[in-house]
Amino acid sequence: MAPIFHPVLVIGGGLAGLRAALEVKKHCDVAVISMVYPVRSHSCAAQGGINASLGNVPEGRGDTWEKHAYDTVKGSDFLADQDAVEILAREAPLRVYEMEHWGTPFSRTPEGRIAQRPFGGAEFPRTCYAEDTTGHALLQTMNEQAVKNGIKVYAERFVVSLVVRDKKVAGLIALNRLTGKLETYAANAVVLSTGGAGRIYAETTNSLIMSGYGIYLAYRAGAALKDMEFMQFHPTSLFQINILLTEGCRGEGGYLLNKNGDRFMAWCAPKSMELAPRDIVARAIATEILEGRGVNNEYVYLDLRHLGERIIEERLPGIRRLCRSFIGLDPVHELIPVEPAQHYTMGGIDCNVNGGTEIKGLYAAGECACVSVHGANRLGGNSLLETLVFGKRAGESAAAFAMHEGSDMNKSSQDAIEEEYRKAVEKIKGREGKEKIASIRNDLGRVMSKKVGIFRKENELEEAVEEISNLSARFENVHVSKGTVYNLELINALDLEAMLALAEIIARGALLRKESRGSHFRIDYPERDDANFLRHTIARLAPGGVKIEYRGVAITKFKPEKRVY
Ligand code: FUM
Repeated sequence: MAPIFHPVLVIGGGLAGLRAALEVKKHCDVAVISMVYPVRSHSCAAQGGINASLGNVPEGRGDTWEKHAYDTVKGSDFLADQDAVEILAREAPLRVYEMEHWGTPFSRTPEGRIAQRPFGGAEFPRTCYAEDTTGHALLQTMNEQAVKNGIKVYAERFVVSLVVRDKKVAGLIALNRLTGKLETYAANAVVLSTGGAGRIYAETTNSLIMSGYGIYLAYRAGAALKDMEFMQFHPTSLFQINILLTEGCRGEGGYLLNKNGDRFMAWCAPKSMELAPRDIVARAIATEILEGRGVNNEYVYLDLRHLGERIIEERLPGIRRLCRSFIGLDPVHELIPVEPAQHYTMGGIDCNVNGGTEIKGLYAAGECACVSVHGANRLGGNSLLETLVFGKRAGESAAAFAMHEGSDMNKSSQDAIEEEYRKAVEKIKGREGKEKIASIRNDLGRVMSKKVGIFRKENELEEAVEEISNLSARFENVHVSKGTVYNLELINALDLEAMLALAEIIARGALLRKESRGSHFRIDYPERDDANFLRHTIARLAPGGVKIEYRGVAITKFKPEKRVY
């Protein structure tokens, strides 16, 4: 069984993965291994835009990278590492212009510059956009570059495990979804860019592939995870369907209304109103619903009617299309029912500003990684940016490692690959149990949404930990058919194993963090507690299960202060 060798392997073909691969390719050979064809990666679902302090519109004059950095740190409730945020904000214009030069069809100002719109928590209109399908536009452009540069893509592969020997990565074992066969790959360096873990929740804007399996792969291989309890809930998903309705709707001037027609954001963010950061807006909507001011006690309204058909068609045509096709409603004339839904995983694989993890040769970038630039709450428009800035940096580091320190593929890693292959064979063989995967997954989603959601408290978090453990026990008795070609049951089982492990880490982290910070709101500890919790949560796999410890936050320019909007 000779493994397929590339000096660098990138797992995940979304924006971060392709950007990393393009960077590696400048130095050495690279291949991308992806669950789906790259253009179907979840990056394509990003709508509203990408942040950079270009100052292209009149209200944006005076914007600087320092102001972008400050807004990001304040938005993060001061949990982001400020050295990393500086890099993000400084490099933002370079990365956005690079995408423009590669051909991204950004929307334009009347003078022909890249247009920018206001987004939550930002002092200036800083979010560059391509109508309301920015992720799609960027991903198509990036894919064109990947094709142009001859990057080899192994699509329809599910990575079952990483091969790590002596805390150094040596390759991976992947399941070919088309044939049902396992394949072995050897590499000097591996970059993980597999996205977040949103599907752990019942209500999420995330696509089906966002199970967090890449985060789990790293965790199981011995890497640390950081700040997993910080989950972002996007304020405006389409009621019950939970498709994202971009923050750009509010950036363009949309209102949020309760059942009485009140713009309720005036009560908790009188200055920023609908453009407060997401954690604040999502909590405000949840509060309206909980306190009986939601429509039918279930949702609130997003009102775009006053923007008029011209603006909606010019800047939010996708939103109009989504509303028309999914609920037969035209936002030009009607109110849109919305509710918060899980949207983004702020935590992830613990890595440094070059993507490096605690495992030599293993790098991470994008939503699966936690550098950390988002801290306790990410600002809209910073995730697309993160994929480009840190995808590039991770690619650079992986290439350097692969060509120098990591270029000693030897007999011991061949042994490790064979050993890991044998374990993977065990993992994918059929199982005769009685439990249905979908039933466990649905129960998990309900527990997470109800007890580890927007509002959290001690007894519910304790119950969640216990319920997750019961679900893990049920998982032992799951039924998985032996089919080979496109065995989705098998893929779902592999995903569910990851989801259960990550759910436990999220719930335990939330239980131990006895404060409220950003997206993590404890009803029983409603204040931020810098004295005890201005620290990152670090989770590692230990013999008895997950072990949690804490690490300080990098604070450079901005002293923690009260967040007022
Ligand atoms: O609302 C949105 O368009 C989402 C943007 C983001 O998550 O950054």
